[in-house]
Amino acid sequence: MGRRPIPPTVRRQAARLREEIVHHNYLYHVLDAPEISDAAYDALFRELQALEAAHPGLQTKDSPTVTVGAEAAAHFRKVRHRTPMLSLQNAFTLEEVGEFQDRLLRQLRVVRGYVVELKIDGLAVSLTYADSVLRQAATRGDGVEGEDVTHNVRTIADIPERLPAVPGLHLPAVMEVRGEVYLPRSEFARINQAQQAAGLPPYANPRNAAAGSLRQLDAGITRQRRLRSWVYQWDPPPDGIDSQSQALDALQRLGFAVNPHRARVATVDEVEAYLRRWETARQQLDYETDGVVIKVDDRHQQEEMGAVSRSPRWAVAYKFAPEEQVTEVLGIDVSIGRTGVATPVARLRPVLVAGSTVRHATLHNEDEVARKDVRVGDRVSVRKAGDVIPAVVRVLLELRPPEARPFEMPESCPQCGQTLVREPAAAGRYCQNPGCPAQRRQHLLHLAGRDAFDIEGCGPAVVDQLLARGWVSTAGDLFRLGPDRLADLDGYATRSARQLAAAVAASRRPSLARFIYALGIRHVGAVTARALAEHFGTLAALQAASEPELGAVEGVGPIVGRAVAAFLASATGRAMVADLLAAGVVPAPTRRSDGPWRGQTVVLTGTLSRFPRSQAEGRVRGLGGTAASSVSRKTTVVVAGAEPGSKLERAQRLGVPIIDEEEFLRRLEEAEGATPEG
Ligand code: IVH
Repeated sequence: MGRRPIPPTVRRQAARLREEIVHHNYLYHVLDAPEISDAAYDALFRELQALEAAHPGLQTKDSPTVTVGAEAAAHFRKVRHRTPMLSLQNAFTLEEVGEFQDRLLRQLRVVRGYVVELKIDGLAVSLTYADSVLRQAATRGDGVEGEDVTHNVRTIADIPERLPAVPGLHLPAVMEVRGEVYLPRSEFARINQAQQAAGLPPYANPRNAAAGSLRQLDAGITRQRRLRSWVYQWDPPPDGIDSQSQALDALQRLGFAVNPHRARVATVDEVEAYLRRWETARQQLDYETDGVVIKVDDRHQQEEMGAVSRSPRWAVAYKFAPEEQVTEVLGIDVSIGRTGVATPVARLRPVLVAGSTVRHATLHNEDEVARKDVRVGDRVSVRKAGDVIPAVVRVLLELRPPEARPFEMPESCPQCGQTLVREPAAAGRYCQNPGCPAQRRQHLLHLAGRDAFDIEGCGPAVVDQLLARGWVSTAGDLFRLGPDRLADLDGYATRSARQLAAAVAASRRPSLARFIYALGIRHVGAVTARALAEHFGTLAALQAASEPELGAVEGVGPIVGRAVAAFLASATGRAMVADLLAAGVVPAPTRRSDGPWRGQTVVLTGTLSRFPRSQAEGRVRGLGGTAASSVSRKTTVVVAGAEPGSKLERAQRLGVPIIDEEEFLRRLEEAEGATPEG
């Protein structure tokens, strides 16, 4: 049977991927200046591998999937490695680790143990010793030929110049030790400070800094950089060393730095436990790791598995969940925010980034889209660091389809059709229709959010239904819903409806700061809202304040002051406040020095059933009291909710009065009745 013909589009795509990968190899290995993350690179690499696997005959002899790295830079002497410096096959999921094990078991029947090691994100070096003396050090280069960096490597303190005699170890006359040279994170920070102080560009990451430091023509500079090393390979190992674990132990005895976090394990379950542990524990290390290398321990079993063109078959590199990935832009939508701001959002081919699936990434505003030149059909790298919203880092221009057209911001709101107005002071365009359904939805979500009214269980699914059924159209409507109505919601049993109704009812007494924040005034975040609440104390005082008075509040400033004044004076703002008050929402005045509970310290313990703890504490503060987290002799009273913890025992021991939630609520209401209402 003949081979399937390869479609020209596939050929072109493979050629483009090859070009792109070779380009990044050069940036990474030769210039030490990568433009995309390792994960983004891996994604391209995998895509090319998949194409080549699906279309045999597509692979070229010089495809980056069969060659390693990039050619050596011109200004260092080239050296040929005695044996090629191989690379490792990657595994991105536990499933792929399982497939690695299957391959081993098919050939070996049983695996006599694994060694797991951290995969150090540094630079591979090869160290040649003759008669126990360091003679040559080389970088990996393209795996076959590297650069001679002997003079620089001699400045690395933990690489021995001369090996001691160790009883029972007969070293071969010529031998090679391979490992990773890296820069500790703490050194990286120090060097970058120095770079900046000298007006030089900072290094992008410790790996680049290590590479830049190792490839200095002046070894004096390298010495100042305080590079370090971890070694992990020995070729050929002396007689009697029959496994990776023995090799590592012996290298350590010879004075090499061998990473202490290695482990010899018997089963894949133990391998898995190690992977899970280091997936997070790595953040505590003073050096960067990008994965775990899993190796067959026994040397004879390693030999039996052998190698394929680029990598040994007895080892695999498990890569930690990347924080950056490459995917395709399927569309660019415009979403309307709570303040009416129109934000272009990239709709993406779903991709796993840092452990969760990403389907959208914000493009911030139209200037940003233009600056990055993101187009539908583009391949982009997407980054999610910590818990921030995923963002598009850059477009991989070489992979742009010819038909991709620049993005154009729509003239009108995709939700309500009104003209989007570009505001001179802001980067974005705004939908200025206060009745816009998208704005209404966002505002309700904002209102129910953690820093605002904190209504538990009132998320997008509930808000969408409430809007669709027409039960809620203003903020105040949320507080007019009874449990019977809520019980009619799809998927809502009586019990959860009652819970939601209770949560709504409980949030009728927000602190003034939360109330202000909940209004959703442009530029007013939780911190500004608190500053305003603390300054004015009551809603009435805030409403009576003039624009200059607002702007003069510490931490507010003229721009925000103007936005607050404009909002409170606008028809929309006035209606919103009146609507909330009419629905029974009463902001608790902020702590005043003359509050009835001044000087009193309240400690809450256990779960309260009537309102969230944040609110209970807010009300204590509103009365001038202090809400503390631990019990001492100075504590005035301890409120014990359900399942109280050790604080209750402590209160009993210290003889501090203890009251239950009912009594607490009674006292709160009594004291609040005595304060002038805002
Ligand atoms: S073993 C024959 N062990 O990762 C394969 N490599 O992607 C020898 N690396 O080229 C590699 N830490 O530069 C091995 N504990 C470790 C490693 C490690 C980092 C690097 C090394 C290698 C690359 C493979």
